[in-house]
Amino acid sequence: MGLPSLLHSLVFLWIVASSTFGVGYGQNGTLNLLDFGASGNGVADDTGAFDTAWKTLCSTGQTLHIPAGKTFVVKPLKLEGPCKSSSVVIQIDGNIVGPSTLGEWQNACALKCWLCFMSVNGLVIKGKGVIDGKGSIWWNQKTQSIDALYFNKCGQLQLSGITCRDSPRVHIFLFRSNGAHISNVHVSAPEDSPNTDGIDVSASSQVTIRDSVIGTGDDCVAIKGGASFVNVTHVTCGPGHGFSVGSLGMVPSTADEVHDIYFQNCNCDKTMNCARIKTWMGGSGFAKEIFYNHMTLQQSQNPILIDQHYCNGGHSCTVMAGAVKVSGITFSGFTGSSASEQAITLNCSDSGCPNILLDHVSLTSGIGKPLRSACYKATGKASFTDPPVPCLNSKQNLAPVTAPLPITY
Ligand SMILES: *[C@@H]1O[C@H](CO)[C@@H](O)[C@H](O)[C@H]1NC(C)=O
Ligand SMILES: *[C@@H]1O[C@H](CO)[C@@H](O)[C@H](O)[C@H]1NC(C)=O
Repeated sequence: MGLPSLLHSLVFLWIVASSTFGVGYGQNGTLNLLDFGASGNGVADDTGAFDTAWKTLCSTGQTLHIPAGKTFVVKPLKLEGPCKSSSVVIQIDGNIVGPSTLGEWQNACALKCWLCFMSVNGLVIKGKGVIDGKGSIWWNQKTQSIDALYFNKCGQLQLSGITCRDSPRVHIFLFRSNGAHISNVHVSAPEDSPNTDGIDVSASSQVTIRDSVIGTGDDCVAIKGGASFVNVTHVTCGPGHGFSVGSLGMVPSTADEVHDIYFQNCNCDKTMNCARIKTWMGGSGFAKEIFYNHMTLQQSQNPILIDQHYCNGGHSCTVMAGAVKVSGITFSGFTGSSASEQAITLNCSDSGCPNILLDHVSLTSGIGKPLRSACYKATGKASFTDPPVPCLNSKQNLAPVTAPLPITY
């Protein structure tokens, strides 16, 4: 190649490079999804553009902007790191929606998630946009295992501002993601949509979830095996199945261990449960140092519930020996109304739950009938608690459980 043609090639490369990247980068290092060929018209498939934009973002460490006023259709997608930069920002102001036919979800059956973030440290997702899973087509399917926003090994994740709605299953799932911080998010799905948990935390430590509103068909927040040092603060739940620890111990061979969990200043508005710990029979592991402090309730069916005979619908659960060891659970500063007579249920395993503390729990009846509490093998202390919990420490109701009754929560 002679000098003139070499120069010619360089000039050509420069033109290609600047038109490919120059536009996409914008002025302050922001990538715009529209510059990657996305249409944002709510009909065309923008998966390829999103995929390319992610790869560019991950290798350059800039901000990817999903602009307001546009709707991007994205099929299930792996958004994988590790990324070059220590912080990767996605600013979502527009809408991201899932595909509307089951066939287009194919990829998700292998991934088990829709937007699957893996091994991205320092990921920041923020903005006022909406992430809509279009999950209703999944809610009557037998195989329903697709979570909307799934974070696996995403250390120091920051998720804020966005709305996440109508997931096929769990809306936001944290797995092996330490140091995550979730704030000001809004999760919504219909009250009768199955398994549509708001936020699940599993195998993750040092997680905070705060200032958020969750209304859904299952648990608003569920703390699962391997979670520790999780703080859930100023979160409103309703409709939904409440602030749950569990279910734990579903697979007897896997020890589920959960500790140091704080639910504080949270609100349950017409929920099925408010503070709930649920474990399957036959499980192993433990749940300890769990605190529910300053909870307010309006018409909650089960304001306080420990259920160690959990049987998800109660169909074919056999009585099994062994249980996740539940101990050191505090319920304090509860005020509000119960929508059922049995407002407090402490139903432990045959080996018991020691150190259950209730303090300043003041529940009123929302149904005009006196409230009561019930226990099975629960020990600890109740002070300033209404309804009173005389069954705590008592020998009553200590007969072994023979057959579980169907439970419908
Ligand atoms: C969680 O809350 C507890 C109790 O208020 C507090 O001691 C702890 O520092 C908090 N942890 C985080 C990570 O915010
Ligand atoms: C505990 O759960 C078992 C199984 O569902 C049930 O049979 C029993 O009545 C419950 N006990 C209390 C005190 O709620």
